[in-house]
Amino acid sequence: MDTPSSFQTDALIAEDIDAYLHAHQHKSLLRFITCGSVDDGKSTLIGRLLYDSKMIFEDQLAALESDSKRHGTQGEEIDFALLVDGLAAEREQGITIDVAYRFFTTEKRKFIVADTPGHEQYTRNMVTGASTADLAVILVDARKGMLQQTRRHSWLVHLLGIRHVVLAVNKMDLVGYDQATFDAIVADYRSFAKDIGIEQFTAVPISGFKGDNITAAPSANTPWYEGPALIQHLETVEVDNAAAQAQPFRMPVQWVNRPNLDFRGFAGLIPSGTVRVGDPVRIVPSGKTSTVKAITTFDGELQEAVAGQSVTISLTDEVDCSRGDVIAAAGDPPQASDQFSATLVWMDEEALKPGRGYWLKLGTQTVTATVQPPKYEIDVNSREHLAAKTLEMNAIGVAEFATDKPITFEPYADNRQLGGFILIDKFTNATVAAGMIAFSLRRADNVHWQPTAITREDHAGMKNQTPRVLWFTGLSGSGKSTIANEVEKQLNLMNRHTFLLDGDNVRHGLNRDLGFTEADRIENIRRVGEVAKLMADAGLIVLTAFISPFRAERRMVRDMLPEGEFIEIFVDTPLEVAETRDVKGLYKKARAGQLKNFTGIDSPYEPPESPEIRVNTVDMTPQEAARFIIQQILPLK
Ligand code: ADX
Repeated sequence: MDTPSSFQTDALIAEDIDAYLHAHQHKSLLRFITCGSVDDGKSTLIGRLLYDSKMIFEDQLAALESDSKRHGTQGEEIDFALLVDGLAAEREQGITIDVAYRFFTTEKRKFIVADTPGHEQYTRNMVTGASTADLAVILVDARKGMLQQTRRHSWLVHLLGIRHVVLAVNKMDLVGYDQATFDAIVADYRSFAKDIGIEQFTAVPISGFKGDNITAAPSANTPWYEGPALIQHLETVEVDNAAAQAQPFRMPVQWVNRPNLDFRGFAGLIPSGTVRVGDPVRIVPSGKTSTVKAITTFDGELQEAVAGQSVTISLTDEVDCSRGDVIAAAGDPPQASDQFSATLVWMDEEALKPGRGYWLKLGTQTVTATVQPPKYEIDVNSREHLAAKTLEMNAIGVAEFATDKPITFEPYADNRQLGGFILIDKFTNATVAAGMIAFSLRRADNVHWQPTAITREDHAGMKNQTPRVLWFTGLSGSGKSTIANEVEKQLNLMNRHTFLLDGDNVRHGLNRDLGFTEADRIENIRRVGEVAKLMADAGLIVLTAFISPFRAERRMVRDMLPEGEFIEIFVDTPLEVAETRDVKGLYKKARAGQLKNFTGIDSPYEPPESPEIRVNTVDMTPQEAARFIIQQILPLK
């Protein structure tokens, strides 16, 4: 199932959240995030919120009381931090990104609070937690005032589109509930907030430990404070989808519901706008139009549905519409594009590889996306723009990217659901980045695909052969070029039309601008892949001899070609053997440190996991290896 989050993908959390939401259906929901470190009293505050709202099971409470007597740092009083940390340990299992979601309810509202570790480096956790939040509580220790991390958290909160900010000045008990201290911190924050574009915030003087201004009753210790207690504010802050409902209607289709031949409905969650029976709608990207026939929910039929509701919409016409499409207001549909500028938050230990294809998941759409080298990185502390070639874990930057098919989107600033996406590594399936689309780059809009009269089948037919790409991969000195040459000779004797693309040669012409960094190798293989594809379109049997060290790019070329046309040939020569041969003397130079990024020495080679053909050059001569390859590909013709 799809999670309610635009960024996080953990199904376990989604199920828990669903069950909880269901149990408190009639109450409105506030999702919020707390920002601050343990030192600021974050755990104590969350523990206090849970405790005061009586969301703790009785036995847990008893355990907590005895625990805090044993381990607590707070004497006889209950140590709320212990409670939260205990829960965290339980929930962290199976959660790749370190965000704990806690649920509690009061008479008026239900709450989901995302709690993220406050450590400096955990930008990615905070981003994950914040991506679904309506409100952020920024904690400041009254004794310390604003810190670097207060600024960083506030900026991230703003970047992620959270419009409601609470400045909770905590530990007021430790400054004698002094109004001047509170006022000074608030004034400080006000000028900073204005700087980064936060227009409004609510400041509350609290003590999570003593309980001042947390629950409904105003604290006698702060008679000078006239505002609401924290919970009161959280209960009443207006986050109801008024703004979202006023926007044009959109609904990404999650799945097509076809229980019988007479009914076909499109199910999804409405992120923005209002839809009524009889409304004209447009399916994006196809552009087909129709009219809403019925709106169905678990509780029956509706005349109208609004942002925040999950519904099934049926239409008056049999239009094509499937998962990933967006049903939108006919007169005001969202854009679809395949090139964008976006802000990326990098979350993986392996840095961004410009040029590499990642899965991009935006709502219900999944496409392949490649990212350009970043325009710049943003220093999370100073917000300065820094030059960057890549993005390391926890770095934030702005980059352009391209997708293999157009996606339907809205700028993140207008619509978080249709503007927020994640990038997923195609091999490890890890979420490597969260992104926020800024705008579309309309470069590709006026370039259309031109159909040609003579097709690739015609070209191949004239040559009386089936095009193939024989992709040789292996270390430098493994024998790729030599064997590929032999294979080509033998194919020519058989009257096959071939062409050999060789790494060393292509690097003198088409790719002479490229070196051996990861990014350059990725681009090298991308270009060679495109050329090989053109040649296969022309009906040729193409042989390529490139180290092509990365699985991702070999897979990319495979995916570019029709099924079965890409034949991966692993020239499986061990490093020691290639190094002993050292035909070009390059291993020697690399070992001596005179040649950087040399494959097998200080640059990785990722061997194919299931190549179509593997050749062993230790026991076979190049001629034997070539014959072995020919034997295997002949039956394919
Ligand atoms: S690839 O990694 O981008 O696929 P490619 O096959 O085009 O590499 O080029 C590899 C050839 O370039 C090697 O056979 C070798 O002759 C030469 N070369 C020069 N520098 C390097 C290096 N740092 N790493 C690997 N090969 C290098």
